[in-house]
Amino acid sequence: MILVTGGTGYIGSHIAVELLAAGHSVVLLDNLANSVASVVPRIEKITGRAAAFYQGDVRDAALLASIFEQHPIDAVIHCAGLKAVGESVTQPLAYYDTNVHGSIVLCQAMAKAGIKRLIFSSSATVYGVEAIPPYVETMGRGSCTSPYGTSKAMVEQVLEDLCASDPEWSVAILRYFNPIGAHPSGLIGESPQGVPNNLMPYISQVAAGVLPELRVYGNDYPTQDGTCVRDYLHVVDLAVGHRVALKALETPGASHYNLGTGQGVSVKQMIDAFTQATQVPVAFRYAPRRDGDLAAFWASVEKAQQELGWQATKTLDDMMTDTWRWQQHASA
Ligand code: WQD
Repeated sequence: MILVTGGTGYIGSHIAVELLAAGHSVVLLDNLANSVASVVPRIEKITGRAAAFYQGDVRDAALLASIFEQHPIDAVIHCAGLKAVGESVTQPLAYYDTNVHGSIVLCQAMAKAGIKRLIFSSSATVYGVEAIPPYVETMGRGSCTSPYGTSKAMVEQVLEDLCASDPEWSVAILRYFNPIGAHPSGLIGESPQGVPNNLMPYISQVAAGVLPELRVYGNDYPTQDGTCVRDYLHVVDLAVGHRVALKALETPGASHYNLGTGQGVSVKQMIDAFTQATQVPVAFRYAPRRDGDLAAFWASVEKAQQELGWQATKTLDDMMTDTWRWQQHASA
């Protein structure tokens, strides 16, 4: 049985579907800070199997203890956290409290319950501003441009130190590149609160007429068309990556895996791919660069391929089609 923290969130809900479909029993924990409880019956609708759900905070040690007492949890997939990069600059304490302190409380509760297998939701941002793509797991962590990024790097360090201190722990640190898309059922996806910060929900909201136009932040980068390049991967592929990473928990110690496609795609190519897949135009204009953006990065995917047998299988077209299906549900 697997506990997924942040289990009703964008990524956690897709992981829950993947685990249930593969026959695992699942417990979800979420404080609903950035998701809604109606995701729980939707997960059941997709898979035909129910997950237990607890509304609560990952910093609540008593709640964690009671979950571990009531359910025979074998491993925890820890997705709970705050993730808005810009907001983290203005509210660093909230980010360090939820992301760093929350992870420590979780590990303490796990240790007390004798559960020492953890998958952690990390980010490609930990490679830092100086890293040269493709990012390889053997590179060290670098300096991050936001408290959000630093909080992920700090938790990685905590988990590595924990594994070094106690050989019973096994931790898989998964570094996500840019997850986008939605479940092909159209029942779960990303629901940003307010105006989205991230590219994909922004594109789909412009296409749906919810927002007037996309501002493309910078067209003077040293890339093929001047716009920034990222490694976008389908959230369903990302969820599969978590399921297969459970295998890595059979080996003690901390291990790190990039989850990406290995392909860099520019902002302009994303706009074109969306329109090609959906036949819906996206109004956009070029605007100045956004603070903190890097010109281009993408993943080296060999390690996950060789050690986990995982690779992304969904195409850019799938990402666009599934995003659009979900957006039409959301704005219907
Ligand atoms: C992608 C590209 C923008 C919006 C961040 C975090 C990362 C992860 C995902 C999550 C960039 C451009 C965007 C817009 C634009 N964190 N863009 N107009 O910045 O690569 O990654 O989110 O939880 O850790 O750093 O993703 O989707 O914000 O931007 O031109 O309105 O799209 O400049 O080049 P990013 P993004």
